[in-house]
Amino acid sequence: MHFSRISGPLLGLLSITSASPAHLQARDLTSFINTERAISLQGVKDNIGPDGAKVPGAGAGFVVASPSRVDPPYFYTWTRDSALTMKMIVDEFLFGKTELQPYIEDYIHAQAVLQTVANPSGTFLPAGLGLGEPKYQVDGTRFNGAWGRPQRDGPALRALTLITYSNYLIKNGQSKKAREIIWPIISNDLSYVGQYWNSTGFDLWEEVQGSSFFTVQNQHRALAEGAQLAKSLRVTCTGCDQAPEVLCFLQTFWNGEFIVSNINVNNGRTGLDGNSILGPISVFDIDAYCDSPTFQPCNSKSLSNFKALIDSFRTAYTINAGIPANKGVAVGRYTEDIYQGGNPWYLITTAAAEFLYDAVAQWKARHVLYVDSTSLAFFKDLYPSVTIRQYNSGNANSPFAQIMNAVTAYADSFVEIAQKYTPADGSLAEQFDRNTGAPLSAEDLTWSYAAFVTMAERRAGQYPPTWNTRRITPAPATCSGTSTPGSYVPATAAGAPNVTTSCQINIIFNVNASTYFGENIYVSGSSADLGEWEFGNAIPLGAGGYTAERPLWSVSTYLEAGKEVMYRYVREQNCGQAPVVESVNRTLVVPACEGAAVTREDAWTGPVGTSGNC
Ligand SMILES: *[C@@H]1O[C@H](CO)[C@@H](O)[C@H](O)[C@H]1NC(C)=O
Ligand SMILES: *[C@@H]1O[C@H](CO)[C@@H](O)[C@H](O)[C@H]1NC(C)=O
Ligand SMILES: *[C@@H]1O[C@H](CO)[C@@H](O)[C@H](O)[C@H]1NC(C)=O
Ligand SMILES: *[C@@H]1O[C@H](CO)[C@@H](O)[C@H](O)[C@H]1NC(C)=O
Repeated sequence: MHFSRISGPLLGLLSITSASPAHLQARDLTSFINTERAISLQGVKDNIGPDGAKVPGAGAGFVVASPSRVDPPYFYTWTRDSALTMKMIVDEFLFGKTELQPYIEDYIHAQAVLQTVANPSGTFLPAGLGLGEPKYQVDGTRFNGAWGRPQRDGPALRALTLITYSNYLIKNGQSKKAREIIWPIISNDLSYVGQYWNSTGFDLWEEVQGSSFFTVQNQHRALAEGAQLAKSLRVTCTGCDQAPEVLCFLQTFWNGEFIVSNINVNNGRTGLDGNSILGPISVFDIDAYCDSPTFQPCNSKSLSNFKALIDSFRTAYTINAGIPANKGVAVGRYTEDIYQGGNPWYLITTAAAEFLYDAVAQWKARHVLYVDSTSLAFFKDLYPSVTIRQYNSGNANSPFAQIMNAVTAYADSFVEIAQKYTPADGSLAEQFDRNTGAPLSAEDLTWSYAAFVTMAERRAGQYPPTWNTRRITPAPATCSGTSTPGSYVPATAAGAPNVTTSCQINIIFNVNASTYFGENIYVSGSSADLGEWEFGNAIPLGAGGYTAERPLWSVSTYLEAGKEVMYRYVREQNCGQAPVVESVNRTLVVPACEGAAVTREDAWTGPVGTSGNC
């Protein structure tokens, strides 16, 4: 995370000095992990409504990103973070924690409703656009503020979480529930993926509009695994036919040496990004062959990328200085990062360990390791006498066993870094200081806790069920940018309101408003979708079409059909001065259901703003 409109480095805001009490460091790694795993699972529960101790006001089944309300404001529910967190909860449930089932049931209901909530990305009907909305208020209502939207990984990740749970239900004699209650939610999400996978969107860090490896990799898994589930349930999957094309596109992120995490964008970065290790652990299949085109952790390309990515961080942070090449380091999002100071993240550092535990598990399950020219450099750091060849499993002294031990020790060393910078109470923030290791940014980040638990599962030999990567449809020889129109139906059996087609109308607000640099324009109004006159929930306009000839601010949004609403434009000032509002109230009659889109052409009327000195 997390996009914010005014995101400057806030280095030094939190300067806690002692981050690593000696008693914790001294403890043996396994006992640290056991303790921290329990703290982390509790940390996740504390951030889920309605009873989470740290998130009063959150609705049932809504996962809040962090209790932090300001600096940074994370007191919202994100579709991505929620799905990844709930996937962990489903896996823990499958591993025997049956007491977690109510969280899953609440989540199912919450997401069925959420799918139908009209929002700034669009509406659910007729074309599923609202499913691309990244975040909502913690009670499941829309969030109107400026954000990097749409984000197309959310529907795929939510589908994956619900598919895993549905497979459990099928195995336990509850196919009817899977088919009638849960499948309709999954079906909407897969429709969205099949329809929009070939359109750009914002990446998981909410900063880059392009095509994101993490997103595309999860989209492929969702469609491929969704097709298998549809077959078991004897239902039709709209959109799943796109899986081979998505797999084809996925291959194009590889540049011969590493995975370029964001393509279809030119943002001046190398492309090395933690995105490319979070993706492989999210699609991990214990049964996969390492040469699967799905980019499994044990894949040579994934390993080459892992080395390139980790090496980029070796020189990026003071706290990584002097750590040898066979030892783990603190890992962040990407080395060009400046958000909240651009520090290492707990969840990416533990993801590096999880990635390596996954790879070891896959080689051990296959009883063989093929080292090739692509993966050679990765292994050289850990086992210098390695050569390009096949290593068959053997006794405890065999080269195969020695390599497995070396990679496992390497994985452990990433956890030791996380351990070193985890405070005594075990709480996990979002980041830790690149110079001092002190926790930084959002406290009690749900995703940090969830990521710790999944890492601990893998280290303990607990693997999620296979998704049959051996049997997926191969990619076509030539890729094409295709799309299957989705089928969107409210999941009423799971509690969604029966919203009807086209009862939201596309309204385009255009206003001529000369602004100074740093000033922003919002539209605020009397209805819920216009924020009920509350500035904090007003809809931001964009200045993409602003020219010297025409000072145009514009937004395309969706409003409830058949309503008369009042609205006015508001200027947000650059230094925290009070917003400046127009001196008129305007009236708009939104056409009835099925009505045509409306474009408003307005000119700012009233006082103007003044730049502050800050
Ligand atoms: C759409 O798919 C084609 C073929 O794989 C690819 O070249 C193109 O970059 C894709 N564009 C987006 C935005 O996904
Ligand atoms: C939802 O509304 C549609 C259109 O009015 C109707 O056909 C359908 O039966 C309704 N579904 C439920 C579950 O009420
Ligand atoms: C516009 O409506 C709002 C909300 O009712 C009200 O506070 C404001 O005074 C009105 N402004 C004008 C110029 O009528
Ligand atoms: C906005 O500016 C353009 C260009 O100057 C002009 O043609 C248009 O009439 C203006 N719109 C309104 C509502 O004043």
